[in-house]
Amino acid sequence: MEPYRIKAVEPIPATTREQRARALDRVGYNLFGLRAEEVTIDLLTDSGTGALSAAQWAAGAAGDESYAGSRSFHRFREAVEELTSYPHILPVHQGRAAERVLFSTLLAPGRITLSNTHFDTTRANVELSGCQARDLPCPRARNLHGPEPFKGDIDLVGLAAELRGPDASRIALVIMTLTNNGEGGQPVSMDNLARAAALCREHGVPLFLDAARFAENAYLVTQCESGYGGHSPTDVAKEAFRLADGCLMSAKKDGIVHIGGFLGLRDDALARRCELTLIATEGFPTYGGLAGRDLEMIAQGLTEALDPRYLRSRAEAAAHLAALCRTAGVRLVEPPGLHALYLDAGHLLPHIAPHRFPGHALACALYLEGGIRSVELGSLYLGKEDSNGEPVTTAPYELLRLALPRRTYTRSHLDHVGQTLEAVVKNKHRVPGYRIVEAAPFLRHFRARLEPVPAGPATTATTGETPDHEGRAENGCDQDRGSRVRRALTAPPATGSGGPA
Ligand code: F0G
Repeated sequence: MEPYRIKAVEPIPATTREQRARALDRVGYNLFGLRAEEVTIDLLTDSGTGALSAAQWAAGAAGDESYAGSRSFHRFREAVEELTSYPHILPVHQGRAAERVLFSTLLAPGRITLSNTHFDTTRANVELSGCQARDLPCPRARNLHGPEPFKGDIDLVGLAAELRGPDASRIALVIMTLTNNGEGGQPVSMDNLARAAALCREHGVPLFLDAARFAENAYLVTQCESGYGGHSPTDVAKEAFRLADGCLMSAKKDGIVHIGGFLGLRDDALARRCELTLIATEGFPTYGGLAGRDLEMIAQGLTEALDPRYLRSRAEAAAHLAALCRTAGVRLVEPPGLHALYLDAGHLLPHIAPHRFPGHALACALYLEGGIRSVELGSLYLGKEDSNGEPVTTAPYELLRLALPRRTYTRSHLDHVGQTLEAVVKNKHRVPGYRIVEAAPFLRHFRARLEPVPAGPATTATTGETPDHEGRAENGCDQDRGSRVRRALTAPPATGSGGPA
């Protein structure tokens, strides 16, 4: 059971299917455009969406808002230094600010960063510095449904080859993302991290942790890695930080706060340079981009995130939802991690071609059916099409992420997600694909506008002969197809709905 009880509650919005269909149409079928009150269960992200504890609120109330040298900064710095062992702790408003401060100081155009997998803002900030971000996930990560643990590891053979290869002199940094959010939230083993650290040391390349989910990674190490059974998550986390030269931290995840982060550094000279960027872009080094109360809440949250009872209940909640998904006939990235489940939408919706975005289609269907918001991690996120909408590149997998905010939803909320998924699966052949009608040149998934198109073989999509869901070929303009699908979306489901009334 959860090792806490609930003291403050917030009503959950209830909407009708018709309201949800109208909302989808209004936002161009992009769930990022919805208003929160249109969402019943929000599994878009686990970032900044957790519930604060009474101890965190109390710590926040005691926050010292002095511009320089505040008491709260010193409490925060001591807590973070104790955990990480880094002598220089620079507070920032969130993880991507730590990325910008570090990369704009450390990287020069033409350099390369290597990672088990760069998170999307990490990659964007590397590229904005004129550099190249190369991912080296371990080969086991390709076996999505296999039960083996630590599929978040870096490919050590690939890493050694890069560090000794023709581009070696251009490699500026290795970043290990714990847990590996871009690879199904899979953890990184301590063995892999130690070997990666040894390779970096041998080649004189700094190693940084993207530590957003360091506590969840540490918990999974205590559960699954031989030799770590008797260790506490705190001990494992400390060992992980000690293996690296610094860290980038989004405290919105395993700091269990609504906003905040930090950059941890060992190197004095680098810290001095980063501080200058910090002052220019975030704030004076004793507050960074944060208020004193935020610093207090992070210091407290980091301790709570490492509580083994909390971590265990979080793992069990994820396992509960994973079991509901499997029962509904949905395959997912196995084994399930803690912060999110990654559903294999490509397998579930084989009638939707990758460039018609099966993951996004499942996200829209879950919203329409039960008011659940989630996010696609497939070809809408990673793919590219030509001006006719034909695929240039598609993602390796068409996934949908159900992220689990910390301490926010109960088992019955997750049961509602399971029931909704079951209802969608029963009518899965009726789920339409999507076409982009408007998109930005990069990070397009945040703001793109789409419209539903009946699913069908990719080759017929541009001929005007798109088969409808019963497989009959049908001529007609795009507009007609769009409104026909919109009508199908607003029709009540054939079987019982898991959605709120
Ligand atoms: N690194 C990882 C591994 C992340 O998952 C995120 C954010 C960041 C860095 C950036 O941190 O949001 O505080 O600026 N991930 C969120 C998510 C947005 O939904 O996975 P931030």
